[in-house]
Amino acid sequence: MRGMDPVSAVWKCKRTLNLGSEKKLKEFVNFIHSSVNEIIQAKKRKLENDGANDLLLRFLGARLDDEMVRDMVISFLMAGRDTTSAALTWLFWLLSGQPDIEKQVVDEAFSINSGEKSLNFNDLKEMKYIKACLCESMRLYPPVVWDSKHAAKKTLS
Ligand code: HEM
Repeated sequence: MRGMDPVSAVWKCKRTLNLGSEKKLKEFVNFIHSSVNEIIQAKKRKLENDGANDLLLRFLGARLDDEMVRDMVISFLMAGRDTTSAALTWLFWLLSGQPDIEKQVVDEAFSINSGEKSLNFNDLKEMKYIKACLCESMRLYPPVVWDSKHAAKKTLS
């Protein structure tokens, strides 16, 4: 919604006055923060009760403050999950309309691993046709459609 405002002063005013889309944004951000905080508190209890180990527990074990861990969790969820699912959704959608290409993808997978064991990272590196399909599908339908950057302050007068 910020990107659709003609000038940034519009959303900045809405933010200051807590109006419209900025009011909603604040509510949604608060909701996400409290949901992630619940995950973090549950993990902390787990950390105390058993010696389980995963990425979040490692962040917590590194004694980063809760706010820092919260923002890292959000960034991983948003950066890693929705991008991957969007990329795969478009890939499978494109393949569903191209049976000849789909067959080549399947043939390549079976030529590298006939299904006797699970695929590993080295097998994936051999799959050049699948990689090309993924790249082409992301070129046609980028999972991150809009990625703006704003200067925090002017560096030149
Ligand atoms: C198809 C999958 C993915 C796509 C299309 C994608 C796309 C992007 C894009 C466009 C950026 C912004 C780069 C920039 O503006 O400088 C980015 C940054 C980032 N991505 Fe991904 N990403 C994908 C998967 C992942 C996964 C699986 C993870 C982690 C589990 C991840 C973690 C990150 C992080 C942490 C950043 C911020 C890097 C930084 O600015 O320091 N991404 N990604």
